Amino acid sequence: MKILIVGSGGREHALAWKMACSPRVSEVLVAPGNAGTALEAKTRNLPLAVDDFDGLVAAAKKEGVAFTIVGPEAPLVAGLVDRFANEGLLCLGPTARAAQLEGSKSHAKAFLERHKIPTARYQSFTDLESARRYLATHPGPQVVKADGLAAGKGVVVADDSAEAEAAAASMLAGAFGAASAKIVIEERLVGVEASFIVLADGLRYVAFPTSEDHKRRDDGDKGPNTGGMGAFSPASAVTAELEKTIRETIIEPTLRGLAADGHHYRGFLYAGLMITDEGPKVLEFNCRFGDPETQPLMMRLKSDLLPLIEAAFSGQLSEELVQFDPRPALCVVLAAPGYPGPIREGAEITGLDHQEDPDTRVFHSGTRDENGHIVARGGRVLGVTSRGETMDMARARAYQRVRAIGFADAVYRRDIGQRFGGRS
Ligand code: AMP
Ligand code: GLY
Repeated sequence: MKILIVGSGGREHALAWKMACSPRVSEVLVAPGNAGTALEAKTRNLPLAVDDFDGLVAAAKKEGVAFTIVGPEAPLVAGLVDRFANEGLLCLGPTARAAQLEGSKSHAKAFLERHKIPTARYQSFTDLESARRYLATHPGPQVVKADGLAAGKGVVVADDSAEAEAAAASMLAGAFGAASAKIVIEERLVGVEASFIVLADGLRYVAFPTSEDHKRRDDGDKGPNTGGMGAFSPASAVTAELEKTIRETIIEPTLRGLAADGHHYRGFLYAGLMITDEGPKVLEFNCRFGDPETQPLMMRLKSDLLPLIEAAFSGQLSEELVQFDPRPALCVVLAAPGYPGPIREGAEITGLDHQEDPDTRVFHSGTRDENGHIVARGGRVLGVTSRGETMDMARARAYQRVRAIGFADAVYRRDIGQRFGGRS
């Protein structure tokens, strides 16, 4: 059976690798993929952009793929799943309307409020004067967010009203184009973050183990917000009891709310959470798998990914379909110099042909093959991912591999997983 995966990041490399491990999968096609997916067994890149819907539909038909999995948010929000459905093709992910949960922060906040799901207090704005008035009457730390998609970069966590006002002014003046013509200002929550990702089919769902991202670029959670500089699983702050609370107060009400709003949500649903003193609250929803969370989660998924996805299509999702490695896993992202701003591309990556140990995998993100030389071409370039008996061992293994890889001025954090502390 052939499978098509849409996207070119570390998430798609990890999904392609795991899918290709299935004995029933004959070939995984990745559109457009990267230099890493091109090297995986049973895997082939197709030179098609994620917004080339005509090309993707034609390729899915020509290649006779059993189904398609969409990695990134932009094609989901733009309606790729709707388009495939119209063509009679199976495609995993929410419809464009359901994907508004990620595509518009004000939509997501209104949804959360309407369905009484815990989240930070907020208001949305399209003009600076109203935003200023709100900030004047709501002193204290606030978070300013572009309403639309901004590749994980449209959020400013402000320490005071002046910083919040500056962020609001810049966004409303078009810092993220149409994506920031509207903004959300919300109260800054204090706590530890966790990612909770499920595969849903209407009200049924299967949960993946918890994971935890590192959003800021620099050590000690300093510097600008990024798409994610590293992740580990399980998350540091989520006990078994808290996981039950997350399911009951967030995941299940969200799926019920989506159904009540007329959506049959089929696909991955990612709840970005803050574990506060008052319990877990939603920071954001993503209508897809997380990147880099996918990398440690795929390393921990012991069972075959194929039957799980098939069950989402046939309405038979069940927790019995998944088995996870109890050992923790951790991913360290290497980014190109300049990230998350404009980056310098073209540096050659060395050390990739290093002997793999079975508990470490290097997933590519922004890489390109130039006549047999693999070079950095994207913001995030590689994600080195390891499993270990303890989180410390997973971390030691990943950093050992990171030290063997090189490209000019690679940017990476030295403290991924330190937050996990002595839990393992
Ligand atoms: P988002 O894309 O909405 O998840 O925001 C990106 C990151 O900004 C989150 O992962 C948090 O680190 C931070 N953030 C967003 N909203 C808040 C909030 N209300 N309080 C504190 N931090 C936040
Ligand atoms: N790592 C965060 C995200 O995928 O949005």
